[in-house]
Amino acid sequence: MIRRPIIAANWKLNKTVAEARQFVDDLQRQLPDAPDLDVVLAAPFTALAAMQEGLQGTPFHLAAQDVFWEHSGAYTGEISPAMLTDVGCTYVIIGHSERRQYFGETDATVCLKVRAAFEAGLTPIVCVGESLAQRQANETFVVVTQQIRAGLVGCNAAWAARAVLAYEPIWAIGTGETATPEQAQEVHHHIRALLADIWDDATAERVRIQYGGSVTPANVSTLMAASDIDGALVGGASLDVNAFVQILSYRGSTP
Ligand code: PGA
Repeated sequence: MIRRPIIAANWKLNKTVAEARQFVDDLQRQLPDAPDLDVVLAAPFTALAAMQEGLQGTPFHLAAQDVFWEHSGAYTGEISPAMLTDVGCTYVIIGHSERRQYFGETDATVCLKVRAAFEAGLTPIVCVGESLAQRQANETFVVVTQQIRAGLVGCNAAWAARAVLAYEPIWAIGTGETATPEQAQEVHHHIRALLADIWDDATAERVRIQYGGSVTPANVSTLMAASDIDGALVGGASLDVNAFVQILSYRGSTP
């Protein structure tokens, strides 16, 4: 089974509307032909509407970095799945470790968000990953297994097959310390076996699993060469359009 690669930029708390639009213009100028992979831009909420305009007619996909699970009501500060589709989002990042660490995200809230995203037709990019202490205690597989089992409760096989998972070891995020392709592949392989266990082999073969954590133009191609690594979730190196284009060109020439 050939899974279509998927590389996403996660801008986090960066870029004004003008900067986001500039990035979109520069990206199109540098990549005039549709790349042979899915390219996703996860922008701050405030930039999404303007980016939808800039991305019209391009092959690039728009994502938010979080979503709430309710559709409307008295939830000050929250954004619903329908609000995201309204501004052109087709993907949404859910359960990023920074949200788990700083904003009280749990496996239970991840699960509510994942189901709400699927119901609205969004594709969730569900993030999992262990801390340094957990890795050192040999708990990586246990942690990732728990995050996936609890985060995807109630998802049927059709939904699961559409999901994107991002394995992001916390110790590699923003640290410049990337997991080796062997370390990442080992966990990705474990995740795919787990998906086969929860659903079935066919579903597990379809799910795309991204690696995230200090991905750069220098290390992306060796990571992407691993058989269970289907893409990358890129933070710091996605802020600069030249670096991001180099990452998208990981096969050597124009992607
Ligand atoms: P990084 O972030 O590429 O800056 O390590 C990745 C992420 O948090 O998604």
